[in-house]
Amino acid sequence: MASRTFASPLSLRAQLLLAASGLLGLILALPGHAADPAPAAAEAQTQFHKAPAAAAQLENPFKGSGSAAAAGGTLYAANCSGCHGRNAGGSGNIPALAHSRVQQTTDGEVFWFITKGSASGAMPSWAGLPEQQRWQIVTYLKTLVDVPTASAAPAAAVYTTPQSAPPPPAPFTDFRFEAPGTQRKITLGDLPAPYATGSSGNAPSVVQRPADVWPQAPAGFKVNLYAKDLHTPRVIHTAPNGDIFVAESDAGRIRVFRGMKADGTPERSEIFAGNLKQPYGIAFYPAGPNPQWVYIGDTDAILRFPYRSGDLQASGPAQHIADLPHGGGHWTRDLVFSADGKTLYAAVGSGSNVDDPDTSPAEKNRADILAFDPDGANMRVHAWGIRNPSGLAIDPADGQLWCTVNERDGLGDNLVPDYITSVRAGGFYGWPWWYLGAHQDPRHAGKHSELKDQAIVPDVLLQPHNASLQIAFYEGQRFPREYSGDLFASEHGSWNKSVRAGYEVIRVPLHQSGNAGGEYQDFLTGFVLPDGSAWGRPVGVAVAPDGSLLVTDDGSNSIWRVDYIGNQ
Ligand code: HEC
Repeated sequence: MASRTFASPLSLRAQLLLAASGLLGLILALPGHAADPAPAAAEAQTQFHKAPAAAAQLENPFKGSGSAAAAGGTLYAANCSGCHGRNAGGSGNIPALAHSRVQQTTDGEVFWFITKGSASGAMPSWAGLPEQQRWQIVTYLKTLVDVPTASAAPAAAVYTTPQSAPPPPAPFTDFRFEAPGTQRKITLGDLPAPYATGSSGNAPSVVQRPADVWPQAPAGFKVNLYAKDLHTPRVIHTAPNGDIFVAESDAGRIRVFRGMKADGTPERSEIFAGNLKQPYGIAFYPAGPNPQWVYIGDTDAILRFPYRSGDLQASGPAQHIADLPHGGGHWTRDLVFSADGKTLYAAVGSGSNVDDPDTSPAEKNRADILAFDPDGANMRVHAWGIRNPSGLAIDPADGQLWCTVNERDGLGDNLVPDYITSVRAGGFYGWPWWYLGAHQDPRHAGKHSELKDQAIVPDVLLQPHNASLQIAFYEGQRFPREYSGDLFASEHGSWNKSVRAGYEVIRVPLHQSGNAGGEYQDFLTGFVLPDGSAWGRPVGVAVAPDGSLLVTDDGSNSIWRVDYIGNQ
């Protein structure tokens, strides 16, 4: 995933701190230039490569952020793995970065060393990478052991190839065993203890799709490439008139597609709106054939554009409807209106992996599904303790709100399952003190015992670390009847797991009753090559007007269309 450059006020703070300590010039000096200026006599150094003491004071603006760690993992794979190894195990003269003294060193010192490189030049300076990216890498390196004490957990498994890894214990799985139609069910009885396995840092460095590789769907379904050469296509929705709206999040724009040619590609492609920060959620309001507005969940605000059915470009500027909590961590903001149109729900993920909101003001009104009046007034918390509710949808049959959730990292390969669930008003879903009901996160041992029995067990447990992102109810007429009313969900794929899982679209049967039984099925797979490299990462799912399923993929920057053709 391409990482995005933020204008970060913290970076200014970091610069001031460095400038004040006279270090800025030192840090910006490239290795190979004149020897480092001798530190002033009074200037203290740390044990870590003689870093100036002030470096240890630098604050990591992304500390504990799962999404920053994931971005850092991708940067690591591209820039560092060639020397330090794919799993950061090091070799020869090159030190290990996983399970090493890096985890005992302050973020600031590691940042300083990465920026400066070693005096000998054997470790290059990475000052050329944007500051945010260097912090993301530091955030990632710090996840490479995430246990309370070194003895509490084994080291993360490190496999030279995925083929050399043993199969995961059922019902857990990974990409090697994903196949369209395979049924899966995880229950509470299957959960391992925290730290039963180590915490892996295994973010993908996305590769080009080989020409002979194609996503795989169940028998009777056919997959075609609907659109390509997009920029980070994320959430996708069908407008009431059949146009297809897609958030190209990192490009800050909303694209709209119209019509479909005989080859299954759109007739037109236009930019509906641009100059947004990081748009994600898209919702039409009011319901029915003639919405007046398109609402957008930008990362720090809810906006709305005037809209008349058929518009291919917004006819006026965005109205600012409400601010959303933001500033680091999970940035996606999905939106959906209640069936009666009176409530706008907005999903706001946590700022961190497991920071305690009691002591972290940055977590206020995060890890929540928030509710607003349609005009943006009257913000309240609808459901809470939901680490990253990255996808929202309303069941058209009964108006029930559902969400899909990215659960926490750092507890091992097979904890904590992501989930899809119907959402109870006022419900508490556990984060960060509890997970999946009455399971206490060991990093918060002893806290909030009064919430133990309030923590709701979600309806459908998914593979841990799957990064489940958008959900859509199947309302089309084109798939076999048994799909009617089922949920589809896109699984962006793991980084905190020794062998990748996710990287697929799944189907959650709702049995024509609106009720999940806890099971789900692999539906669209094949985005990871046998050697473990990923070429595609499903993000969004939507049902097209003709009843086919559209799947955005921000790995190959394309949209796939899954159609049912039967036994032709
Ligand atoms: C060309 C090979 C090479 C590349 C590429 C490289 N490193 Fe290094 N790295 C080294 C060497 C060699 C050392 C040991 C330097 C020393 O101790 O003087 C080192 C040391 C380190 C250390 C200090 C570890 C310790 O315990 O002392 C960190 C942290 C580090 N590298 C991070 C990174 C990161 C992050 C990247 C990618 C952005 C990276 N390295 C890319 C060769 C490399």
